[in-house]
Amino acid sequence: MRKSRQVLMDQTGWQVEPVPALIGFSQFFGMLSKATFPAASFIRGREDFDYIEEPDIFHEIYGHTPLLTDPRFAKFSQKLGETGTKCDKSEYSWLIRLYWFTVEFGLIREGHEIKALGSGLASSPGELDHSINEPTVVRKPFDIIDILRTPYRIDINQPIYFA
Ligand SMILES: [Fe+2]
Repeated sequence: MRKSRQVLMDQTGWQVEPVPALIGFSQFFGMLSKATFPAASFIRGREDFDYIEEPDIFHEIYGHTPLLTDPRFAKFSQKLGETGTKCDKSEYSWLIRLYWFTVEFGLIREGHEIKALGSGLASSPGELDHSINEPTVVRKPFDIIDILRTPYRIDINQPIYFA
């Protein structure tokens, strides 16, 4: 049986590298541009089972790495990283919003059905349900300009998602 790191490498050429909790955006984009996913190595406590603002290893491995086995998704993530290494720091917030509303909390439409896509949803049972079933949630069609203009908070279930 192949080890999971070998599966990721064989599928898309990506690898995972442990980092101490949160890292700066320039390091983050630099690593993504090299097809290397920075993974926080601590694990959340029981009291934070549903959601924790800092990414932990459960979120990183369970949430992020399955998506990175998809060549389209892996390419998108790498391009986002490359763009981050070329742009001015003052433009980081645009890229982070795009990352937030796709990689972290994106939804995807399959036929008439809306499904969870993002890593932040995969690692939060509460928000996973909220994103799909909560009637007050706004689920907008994917629109890049709309996404770049939409601020977000990290401490609540999202009121807006893009599919
Ligand atoms: Fe994440």
